[in-house]
Amino acid sequence: RIIPPAAALVEKGNYRHFMEKEIHDQPGACQHTLSAYLDPVSGRARAPDGLDFSRVDRIQIVACGTAYYAGLISRYLFESLARIPVDIDVASEFRYRAPPVREGTLCIVVSQSGETADTLAALRWCREQGLSTAAVVNVHTSTMAREADILLPTHAGPEIGVASTKAFTSQVAALSALAVAAASAKGRIDAAEEARLTRLLLEAPRLISAALALEEPIRALAPELAKARDVLYFGRGVMSALALEGALKLKEISYIHAEGYPAGELKHGPIALIDEATPVIVLAPSDALFEKTVSNTAEVMARGGPVIFITDEEGARRAPAGVRLIVAPGCDDIVAPLVYAVPIQMLAYYVAVQKGADVDQPRNLAKSVTVE
Ligand code: G6P
Repeated sequence: RIIPPAAALVEKGNYRHFMEKEIHDQPGACQHTLSAYLDPVSGRARAPDGLDFSRVDRIQIVACGTAYYAGLISRYLFESLARIPVDIDVASEFRYRAPPVREGTLCIVVSQSGETADTLAALRWCREQGLSTAAVVNVHTSTMAREADILLPTHAGPEIGVASTKAFTSQVAALSALAVAAASAKGRIDAAEEARLTRLLLEAPRLISAALALEEPIRALAPELAKARDVLYFGRGVMSALALEGALKLKEISYIHAEGYPAGELKHGPIALIDEATPVIVLAPSDALFEKTVSNTAEVMARGGPVIFITDEEGARRAPAGVRLIVAPGCDDIVAPLVYAVPIQMLAYYVAVQKGADVDQPRNLAKSVTVE
């Protein structure tokens, strides 16, 4: 068995696996990352020197795997807060669809390693087209960090588990803070709103810590879920992107077939898969879309699907009868992806442990894929 080089230097401490440790590292990883972009004293969000969002008319995000889903989550914020249109592509498709290049586009690549071949090729392609480029990377000495015009570091520390956890939430944290900086630079929010959003984001580490307390109820679900052949994840809005990440996590380490869908798409196909043996994980913070998620959940339950409903206290009061509730800390929309990431990571982790899988080195996967 090949031990990744960094693993020789990083200890697991009292944890059974690096992934478990890295899940628990997230409050610190996010705090370090957020403090690079947010100033608690002035209440301002800042982009690094050289990145002037007032001159950015469009953002093109390119990434692979979990980093792609971090990008997908950030799209909601760049568009809703800063009103900057965002295109997002998986790196292996991006160049080949020959997208028309527009001046004023900022290309943001997102990558834990900064070495993923497809993402690096996309970065180079954007540079050749004359676009300005920025790289959200966790390895600050990586090729992408060196080649992009602007380095947007995450500060998750070395991530050893192949399935990304703390790098993912750090990417979401950095991109969320940058969306606030962009909204301010574009004049879409005033100083008071910037300070409010900054304060909310700086609360994320505390809320992530609180979400870690869900470990026991999540662990209790694992024996049943481990028996499933298929698991579906649903959510709306930004939670639809997190549903995709939840499904990916479960596939990667437990080898259970899982799919994520926007809850509203259910009736256009996936509902045909629902039966008593197909658990459905619903990501349902009590936000503006909550009632719609509830009615989609009722459609699942009417077809006998067992539902695990991850929500907050307010949502728990309004949840459909008969669901298994996981009650996450209540939080503002802007931090919800960071908070809800924790239960879905722990769910994948405990199901994989239950199945006796090699959590840190899942079969057929590599931490960094340096071939196209
Ligand atoms: C591999 C890993 C994934 C990761 C993806 C992108 O497939 O198994 O966990 O999300 O690469 O890696 P990157 O280093 O570019 O974030």
